[in-house]
Amino acid sequence: MDKIVVEGGRRLEGKVAISGAKNAALPILASSLLTDGPCRYTNVPDLRDIHSIIELLQSLGVHVERDGQTVVVNASSLSSSEALYEIVRKMRASILVLGPLLARMQHARVSLPGGCAIGARPINLHLKGLALLGAEIDLEHGYVEARAARLKGAEIYFDTVSVTGTENLLMAAVLAEGVTILRNAAREPEVVALADVLRRMGAKIEGAGTANITVTGVDRLHPVEADIIPDRIEAGTFMVAAALTAGDVTLTDCEPDHLGAVTDKLAQAGAGIEQAPGSIRVLGDRPLAGLDIRTQTYPGFPTDMQAQFMVLMTMAAGQSIITETIFENRFIHVSELKRLGADIVVSGETAVIRGRASLSGAPVMATDLRASASLVLAGLVAEGVTEINRVYHLDRGYERIEAKLQQLGASIWREKI
Ligand code: EPU
Repeated sequence: MDKIVVEGGRRLEGKVAISGAKNAALPILASSLLTDGPCRYTNVPDLRDIHSIIELLQSLGVHVERDGQTVVVNASSLSSSEALYEIVRKMRASILVLGPLLARMQHARVSLPGGCAIGARPINLHLKGLALLGAEIDLEHGYVEARAARLKGAEIYFDTVSVTGTENLLMAAVLAEGVTILRNAAREPEVVALADVLRRMGAKIEGAGTANITVTGVDRLHPVEADIIPDRIEAGTFMVAAALTAGDVTLTDCEPDHLGAVTDKLAQAGAGIEQAPGSIRVLGDRPLAGLDIRTQTYPGFPTDMQAQFMVLMTMAAGQSIITETIFENRFIHVSELKRLGADIVVSGETAVIRGRASLSGAPVMATDLRASASLVLAGLVAEGVTEINRVYHLDRGYERIEAKLQQLGASIWREKI
């Protein structure tokens, strides 16, 4: 397995292009199961999680071709409705095939994804919604098995806002008979991107991007071409890297409108922000000030940016407080950041960070994607060398992170162990 080595102390400067969004590409690739012809997607990031969903689609008999950032998925050869444990265990988001498989094949058998490092992550809301749409659901031998001759529209209320839950039910409802209303639906840009693709396939969807989505079922959907939206979390991570290193970095190919909460907090911390259509410049020309952050569903501050901001706060003046409200165990980076010299105290869902730490490099590792990204950021400002092990997690969600940071002047490289 590889490791990433960072030598701290360089100021980041220059331009970096943001890749397509992992969490938009995953449901959109899965949505191809609803059609029986070639769907062509551009700006698909080259990531381990994308390889996993492609492998999963291929295991269902789907034909997938990849040429650089373009992926063509043709589900006319779909022959299986079973997502096996061997593939699902690599990536929880595999559950996204449950809704479309059931809608297209009247049957789906998908291995239960189980928890992960950041929390228990149940899928009860996905299953409750499918049951309300008329599916018969059985849980046996670690698999969820769903059956329905044809799903029937229903009103579904989410007790908790769930991103992939909303996406799964959207993909099931588009081919159901009648009207489905999703209440307390997720409003994330990735949900809107999926709804846009489904609409282009011929689905009737209103209200995506609001808490109430109405779907009127249709009999058939047709193949589409679509471009994947920019990754707002990758963008946010580079924005933090710029502010942290007192740098001057311009992000291109990004969507400033999706980054409102992140931009607002960075500006509060003292970073200079300039926005133009498709680009954001971050200037770290003033001393950083402490912040209080509470993670929330979109358009609130994203849980996927919490670990990266924690690193920023270790360098800011005074005391900062982070409250993590989405996942119960998403402070796994704290113990590793403390090994680098950070002063952080966690109590329940709250972390108190005392700033102006002088971080010093050390070997570290994390078992979560965003936690691993935070360790790379810490390495950029730690004195000496930081080695990030288990790069596997970074490769799930950041396209060529070391190459992009090198291009901005960081001293960072990948080594084979
Ligand atoms: N929840 C339930 N029951 C459910 C579903 C969710 O109780 O049936 C709870 C979860 O346990 C959690 C909360 O609802 O406490 C929100 O979870 P959500 O379902 O929204 O998370 P997700 O859909 O599994 C997606 C992203 C995550 C991101 C979260 C929150 C994808 C593929 N994953 O996960 O991304 O953190 O939304 O925004 O879209 C990442 O990219 O690193 C990542 C973890």
